[in-house]
Amino acid sequence: MIKGLIFDLDGVIVTTEHNHFIAWQRTAHSLGIDFEEEHNELLKGVSRADSLKKILELGSKTISSEEFDALLKSKNDFYVDSIQELNQTDLLPGVLDLLTEAKAKGIKLAIGSSSKNANFILTLLKIDHLFDVVIDGNGVEFPKPHPEVFLNGAKALGLLPNECIVFEDAASGITAAKAGGFHAFAVGNPNIADLADTYLNDLTEFSLEAYA
Ligand code: BG6
Ligand code: MG
Repeated sequence: MIKGLIFDLDGVIVTTEHNHFIAWQRTAHSLGIDFEEEHNELLKGVSRADSLKKILELGSKTISSEEFDALLKSKNDFYVDSIQELNQTDLLPGVLDLLTEAKAKGIKLAIGSSSKNANFILTLLKIDHLFDVVIDGNGVEFPKPHPEVFLNGAKALGLLPNECIVFEDAASGITAAKAGGFHAFAVGNPNIADLADTYLNDLTEFSLEAYA
């Protein structure tokens, strides 16, 4: 019996994964490193600092810790600038209906995101009040693919991992969910379908009645 739903944010709730890609591509190009959509797959769900480390690995580059920190800041400034107009039209298909239906049924709802901008984004989208718990990149020691973000989410909801479904669009997130003992549902990213317990093209395909 499923008692809780834990959602990744970027790429599951909202279209911001593209904004991350554009911001990282700009960062990579400033370092003379080629960066295309296929490279971005490696970064999905990955923390800000780990993402920059992966870009540097792609280009076999090393930089000073000062330059590293400056690039993290400029990437985030550019990214945050690019999401200022975010609103409910940027929610991915089925999100609002599922959150509303689950809430009405007393199913617990959490966000389990690597982003440090999660609360800001939820406020822009005006859906922050729907979640019982938000665990984000500010609250974890070990980022995805470590399961900490989801384990903290389940604990805060007062539920066991096997009572929760995790919805993810990233390989790192599915790996984290499986490692934590959650039901791992991949959404909207066929590249990770094989890693997950179940694959959904989008959240309109999820039937709450079948699980809760
Ligand atoms: C994840 C995204 O949710 O958060 C990544 O999938 C992003 O692309 C990561 O890099 C960290 O986000 P932020 O907003 O803290 O830079
Ligand atoms: Mg994601």
